[in-house]
Amino acid sequence: MIPARLVILGATGDLTGRYLLRALAELAAADCLPADLDVVAVAREQWDDDRFRAHASARLADHAESVPASARDRLVRRFRYIPADVADPEAVRAAAADAPGPIIAYLALPPAVFGPAISALAAAGLPTGSRVVVEKPFGTDLASARRLNALLQRHFPESAVFRVDHFLGKQTVQNILGLRFANRLFEPLWCAEHVERVDVVWDETVALEGRAAYYDHAGALRDMVQNHLLQLLCLVAMERPGGLGQRPLRDAKARLLGSVRRPTEDDVARHATRARYLAGAVRGRPVPDFAAEPGVDPERGTETFVDVTLFVDNDRWAGVPFRLRTGKALDDDRREVRITFRPVERLPFGQVDDPGPNVLRLAMDPDRLAVDLALNGAGDPFCLDPARWELALAPQELSAYARLLVDVIEGDAALSIRGDEAEASWEIVEPILAAWDAGVAPLRTYQAGTPGPVA
Ligand code: BG6
Repeated sequence: MIPARLVILGATGDLTGRYLLRALAELAAADCLPADLDVVAVAREQWDDDRFRAHASARLADHAESVPASARDRLVRRFRYIPADVADPEAVRAAAADAPGPIIAYLALPPAVFGPAISALAAAGLPTGSRVVVEKPFGTDLASARRLNALLQRHFPESAVFRVDHFLGKQTVQNILGLRFANRLFEPLWCAEHVERVDVVWDETVALEGRAAYYDHAGALRDMVQNHLLQLLCLVAMERPGGLGQRPLRDAKARLLGSVRRPTEDDVARHATRARYLAGAVRGRPVPDFAAEPGVDPERGTETFVDVTLFVDNDRWAGVPFRLRTGKALDDDRREVRITFRPVERLPFGQVDDPGPNVLRLAMDPDRLAVDLALNGAGDPFCLDPARWELALAPQELSAYARLLVDVIEGDAALSIRGDEAEASWEIVEPILAAWDAGVAPLRTYQAGTPGPVA
């Protein structure tokens, strides 16, 4: 059923301003929004329609290069604004009132407010065919994720629940599936016999950017690893799904998450590094000490960098380290999945210098695929040199959020995180949080603008 209304709960927040408005404007420009879809924005600020429209126009002006003014204006004209507490069923009822068809309720809210907002939606009673979209992180720990799942399941069928992880809307992330399962070349080598290690790296130059209220309670592990990086791990390591529909794709990911070894305290001590940035300069821009940022409680010990190695206990991956690394205020943006293959049994020609392993890289932003090979170089034909075979990947036309919104509008939950996946991800991450709380592995530091803590 085509949705008649989008209700954004938390419409004045960072997430709406940063991602959602732009995604909607892109869809307006591409004529992908249902013609009659109206948008009701709900937030605490005592604003009226005009004030919210002015706010939305100002935020959308940041995307003037990617979205034409006419599309931005068309979108802004669809907005209505209701000042209200998102946990108040009467306010939610008012936002859903008179909708001539199903609504999409988008919870662009911090995790602590998900529960009350879902209860308010249920109490308000949504039209048949309505969908609920929940942002990441889904809960703050395993127990809260279970409670949220139970609450959602009490009121909505799983097919109506969309747990968003925008990494799944990235074209090059989706390309992992094509690369692995539509090419003969790689899949036979995709196992412990041939792969030495896998690195999933999401290094960012951005620092806190005024997000203390959220980030100081989340930290890098909850913000990035529990969701985005574990999803990347799933796509890289899972078995071939029977198809790409909702059931087989999510079954394959859930099975893989079930095989990831839950880290012990000893694993955390040996395989997990956490760190926080100190003042420095990133590409010439001064960055203050994280602990001194307004809104940050230095005593909380929030990590802005994490590097953790996990193991997948199944026949395909026994013994292969999967390293997940991400951090903020680093010297460079590195976003890539790297598969490093084992060395050949014996180098031909008795060559002594090792030309290095074969490495397959899927890099994002800019998106490209590269393979490191050993080839005969110039000069001595029997001397192998490292060489790189590189390919630019097609640029993403719609942003990741916009792609996922299309799926929500069409009711296709294949790229949404299923409830059991969210819980399994917490099962992996929670022992690390518990070990850190118990003082295993101290919080280290690194200077902003450097490659991270020294190993
Ligand atoms: C968000 C995190 O989900 O993903 C941010 O909350 C992070 O901290 C961002 O910077 C990274 O995603 P992208 O698509 O901007 O690289």
